[in-house]
Amino acid sequence: MYILANWKNSLSSKDSKRLAEALHTRISGKYSDIDIVLFPDDISIETVSLMFDSASMVRVGAQDGPLGPKTTLTGSISLSNFGKFCDYVLLGHSERRMLLGETDEMIAQKAALAIDVGVIPVICVNKGDGTKIDPHFGLKAQLESILDHIDSKSKFVIAYEPIDAIGTGIPADPEEVKNIAGIIHETIFISRNVKSSPYIPVLYGGSVNDKNIKSFLSLEGIDGVLVGSASLTADSFLRIIKKVSDPKHYK
Ligand code: PGA
Repeated sequence: MYILANWKNSLSSKDSKRLAEALHTRISGKYSDIDIVLFPDDISIETVSLMFDSASMVRVGAQDGPLGPKTTLTGSISLSNFGKFCDYVLLGHSERRMLLGETDEMIAQKAALAIDVGVIPVICVNKGDGTKIDPHFGLKAQLESILDHIDSKSKFVIAYEPIDAIGTGIPADPEEVKNIAGIIHETIFISRNVKSSPYIPVLYGGSVNDKNIKSFLSLEGIDGVLVGSASLTADSFLRIIKKVSDPKHYK
């Protein structure tokens, strides 16, 4: 089960350090059955990453990745810092797709580079635009453009985050999430139908908190959650982790 904390640009470097220290004290080395990944902003990555060594079971990721090894890109994280301090990278978050016009092609390019340097991409997808014939056309197009660029033996993670559930306090309907998770798994299976392909975990994100997490954990096809605002204090993130670690909330 994956529990990912997307801190976005919500914390100062001091607060990021304080939150990481609190989590280090309270979760490090425990919860070995959960993949916990923290995504601080670029300024705080090094500090947070150095706090959690490989024994701590907590991993650290970047909120976006470099576009290409030879592309000089102002505002981007350097490839060497990326490879050194990150185990994961969030790509294609809808805030970036909408505000910065990030395309599926750019996201796929970043994902392929991340894999090349040993960083696991967490690729965010949303509902996209449907057609009369296929209401899930937009979602499938986002997935297929990624799948076209990535070797079928590579490991990555998909996070389904419907735009209207992000930051609104109103999560998506779990039945709909289950249905979409099924479509995502099916699309991946059809495109990578080779024996050596690793399992691709599918997460849900959008207004997840300790009160509603139970309804997403128990869904078939959902392997974890991507948490934004409820990951910004140690108490609230800990409440989520404790629910996840309690076996009675599993399928
Ligand atoms: P939220 O954010 O939990 O605050 O809705 C999730 C995200 O944007 O990844």
